[in-house]
Amino acid sequence: MLIRSAEQDIERVIYTEKAIAARVEEIGAELTRRLGDKRPVLVCVLKGASFFYIDLCRCMNCAIDMDFISVSSYGAGAQSTGVVRLIKDLDNNITGRDVVIVEDIIDSGLTMHYLKELLSARKPASITTVSFLDKSTCHDKSLKTDICGFEIPDEFVVGYGLDYANYYRNLPYIGILRPECYK
Ligand code: IMP
Ligand code: MG
Repeated sequence: MLIRSAEQDIERVIYTEKAIAARVEEIGAELTRRLGDKRPVLVCVLKGASFFYIDLCRCMNCAIDMDFISVSSYGAGAQSTGVVRLIKDLDNNITGRDVVIVEDIIDSGLTMHYLKELLSARKPASITTVSFLDKSTCHDKSLKTDICGFEIPDEFVVGYGLDYANYYRNLPYIGILRPECYK
């Protein structure tokens, strides 16, 4: 593992701060249109989705409830372990509520699948899945989210909440990490 500065470790910026803000605004408007009269519960999947989540909440022009869940599938590496573990559950009951699961990225689709099953069992009125990024070539179409920010190729990306071993989360853009940093 070779962690230097962002300037050295990021191969290429794929979404700038400005491009991110524009897309988040569109997603906020879409969710407001779909669920604006229902006071949806927006569920942040910690920690990766945190930046996207906060920006998205600010772009919603309606009453919302905020709640947070934490799961782990990656451990400290760049490869999914294939096992999803619940680390922190929601604080509030979601039975009868309209729930929006807000994720940072869909890779294999395993984490979102797990979350959907977990929360469905609590009998919400509806579940809408949102992911800021989607590596669409890495999973079958049945695992697609209802709303996706950007579809990206199968590269390891960091920034705007996304990490490698907890590094780079606070970069304001999304960039491709040089493979020598995680191989
Ligand atoms: P999945 O269960 O394989 O869909 O993986 C989803 C989780 O893996 C996400 O919530 C991220 O935390 C993490 N992840 C997947 N791809 C990347 C990436 O390119 N960079 C950083 N984290 C990633
Ligand atoms: Mg992560």
